[in-house]
Parts: sequence; C-alpha cells; structure tokens
Amino acid sequence: MCTTSKRGMLQAEQQEAIIGRTKLDNVELDDAASGQQSHKALATIEDENGDEHDILRDNMPSGSPGSGQFGTYFIGYSRRLWVIERILQRMFVGDPPGLHDRLLDFSKPLTGTTFFAPFASLLASLDSD
Ligand code: HEM
Repeated sequence: MCTTSKRGMLQAEQQEAIIGRTKLDNVELDDAASGQQSHKALATIEDENGDEHDILRDNMPSGSPGSGQFGTYFIGYSRRLWVIERILQRMFVGDPPGLHDRLLDFSKPLTGTTFFAPFASLLASLDSD
C-alpha cells in the first residue's frame, strides 16, 4: 500500500513525463534518450536477450479521507520474482542510479510483502510429510 501526497502541484506536462504517457489522448511517450526516465520506462523489464517480461497488475484505491490519506493497494503477479524485484530496484535506485522514479516524490510506500502462490497441481504433487 502507498499513499499520495500533494507536495507541489505539477503542470500536466510534468505529470506526463513522470508517468510516460499523455493524459488527454493517452499516447505513450518515447523513453528519454538519457537522464531521468519515466515510471513506464523504469517499470519495463527486458532480459539479456532483449525479451520483455510483463507482469499482471491490480490496483485498488484506498484511503482514509478523514485523516487526509489517499493511496492505492497494488499487487503485481509474476512467475518470475526477479522481474518485480528489478522493477522495484529501478524505481528506488534509478536507472541511471540516483535518478529514482519521480512517482516516489509524490507517494510513500507504507507496506509490502511477497507471496508464493503455487498452482493446485504443484500443491497436490507434494508429499504429505
Ligand atoms: C506509487 C505507486 C505507483 C503508481 C501511482 C503507479 C502508476 C502507474 C501508471 C499510471 C502506469 C501506466 C503507465 C502507462 O501509461 O503506460 C504504470 C505502469 C506500470 N507500473 Fe506502476 N505505479 C506504481 C507503482 C508500481 C510498482 C510498485 C510496480 C511494480 C513493482 C509497478 C509496475 C508497473 C508496470 C510493470 C507498468 C507497465 C509499464 C509498461 O507499460 O510497460 N508500478 N504504473
């Protein structure tokens, strides 16, 4: 879960650069040639062969308006844990290192965990002891 803050109001153009897509017409922006990358670019993971590894994402808005807290519950599914770990590393450390995901300037991660969810046939194949 993370919460968002109202720290500094940004122009729409700055918001689009941080996310990596235009707001009004929903067009993907090209990745920056160098320097600060958008969230979309940092969250796109390629392996050493240039193959892209997508994850399945779910978000649920959450909040406690009375205490001015607004945010989202995020869950990412992947059969390869390294893909999600690589995204988090790119978001928090940045690529290049030091230029972290600017979403983190406006939101604060509060909790996080990893679940192993084996499929039913794998569970059934495990020995009872
Ligand atoms: C502060 C919390 C976050 C917010 C507000 C957020 C928001 C977004 C938004 C708006 C997009 C759409 C970009 C587009 O237009 O294509 C996006 C894409 C994505 N996000 Fe996040 N995100 C957050 C955290 C995360 C986390 C923690 C992960 C994974 C560990 C993640 C993984 C991704 C991925 C994989 C994409 C798709 C990138 C692509 O198009 O290839 N995000 N996110």
